Amino acid sequence: MSVLKIRPAKIYDVPALARIEMDSFVHPWSAEEITRDIVRNEKAFVAVAELDGEAVGYADMWIVAGEAQLYNIVTDPRYRGRGIGQLLLKYMTQTAARLGCNVMTLEVRRSNEPAISLYRKDGFRDTGIRRGYYTDNHEDAVLMDRDISPDDAIEGTGDLEVDVDTI
Ligand SMILES: CC(C)(COP(=O)(O)OP(=O)(O)OC[C@H]1O[C@@H](n2cnc3c(N)ncnc32)[C@H](O)[C@@H]1OP(=O)(O)O)[C@@H](O)C(=O)NCCC(=O)NCCS
Repeated sequence: MSVLKIRPAKIYDVPALARIEMDSFVHPWSAEEITRDIVRNEKAFVAVAELDGEAVGYADMWIVAGEAQLYNIVTDPRYRGRGIGQLLLKYMTQTAARLGCNVMTLEVRRSNEPAISLYRKDGFRDTGIRRGYYTDNHEDAVLMDRDISPDDAIEGTGDLEVDVDTI
């Protein structure tokens, strides 16, 4: 039986997360940027999805003035389509609720159908378009948000663990 665990990221996760970035984005975040959010940035919260001990995805949000801003969510390309992104997002909303946030916001490239579908499935609404927002190709950003209620809050140890056969 395989176990998927979602937990707060640690400094030792950085090489694996940087590899997932490289495999997933044309302009990946560097190991230094990931390290900053795990170690030094007090506003940031980074979570890792671990499948049988191997990092297979991660998410990064910043908490500012009671709002959670989701900056990144990514699943290792080899493990997509198995529910890992959905569980990571659930963990981020649970954590945002525990930290007292009442809304989560994000922006996403208009062409990124998998991500937009993931967010809509989790209850995010479209709130606007930022024209030509991305400087590399002048693509529009879709702005989305989702209410967070105290009922979303995580319980127990703060980790989320599931038998992968159930996802
Ligand atoms: C977006 C992303 C994180 C989804 O991760 P994942 O682990 O594959 O997602 P899941 O298996 O949990 O899928 C959950 C939902 O996402 C949506 N989704 C996932 N892959 C999809 C695809 N290829 N096409 C359309 N919708 C998709 C679906 O709504 C899916 O629900 P369903 O299985 O009931 O149809 C992943 O595609 C990824 O890492 N993309 C590259 C990084 C990125 O663009 N991140 C977001 C912007 S920062």
